[in-house]
Amino acid sequence: MRTNLADIRQEYTKSGLRENELPGDPLSLFSRWLQEAIDAEVDEPTAVIVGTVSPEGKPSTRTVLLKGLHDGKFIFYTNYESRKGKQLAQNPYISLSFVWHALERQVHIEGTAAKVEPAESDEYFRIRPYKSRIGARISPQSQPIKSRMQLMRAFVREAARWLGKNVERPANWGGYAVTPTRIEFWQGRPNRLHDRFLYTLQPDGEWEISRLAP
Ligand SMILES: Cc1cc2nc3c(=O)[nH]c(=O)nc-3n(C[C@H](O)[C@H](O)[C@H](O)COP(=O)(O)O)c2cc1C
Repeated sequence: MRTNLADIRQEYTKSGLRENELPGDPLSLFSRWLQEAIDAEVDEPTAVIVGTVSPEGKPSTRTVLLKGLHDGKFIFYTNYESRKGKQLAQNPYISLSFVWHALERQVHIEGTAAKVEPAESDEYFRIRPYKSRIGARISPQSQPIKSRMQLMRAFVREAARWLGKNVERPANWGGYAVTPTRIEFWQGRPNRLHDRFLYTLQPDGEWEISRLAP
């Protein structure tokens, strides 16, 4: 490597997060930040890193796209038999991390995941592009496969089978809704003295807010 990684550093000066501007509901602040990321045309504003845990307590992460935000829940879609799907079947605890570097912001969410109702998955599946629907049907996500050729053959065969028809959602593909219990907002500030505010869900359903040291 030619670049000395220790020399890469950036001051975070874009914005601040003031205590007296925090809403009582973290979902409204999240919606505002997500909209600001979309408006700023950052790359993949809905990309979120999902953390799950194996039955042995080993964590793993991967990126997915947020496809909905309703009733206080975060919705994403995937294959229920993928590695993450298998882990969630055994342990519903989950983390979601959004990072919007251009805005010097991140949001960390912890909570539990549950499958959405099949009708909700059907509704989203229907609006996906035809080829993405075919792809979801033929990809045994997270399983070893012999070659790309094997995948392409399965794709072409399945595409021909559904030509001119309504592609059915496979039962192993659908949404998860994440119910948050902890949401942390991070705004970069100069001298590494960042603003961090943590919302923790209380037993009475209210959110408690605390400032965390950077
Ligand atoms: C930008 C981006 C968006 C992605 N979106 C999704 C998604 O919405 N759903 C999904 O299942 N995988 C998505 N992936 C692929 C996942 O990161 C991952 O490779 C796949 O879900 C298998 O993960 P697993 O083996 O840990 O279950 C995305 C990857 C990237 C880089």
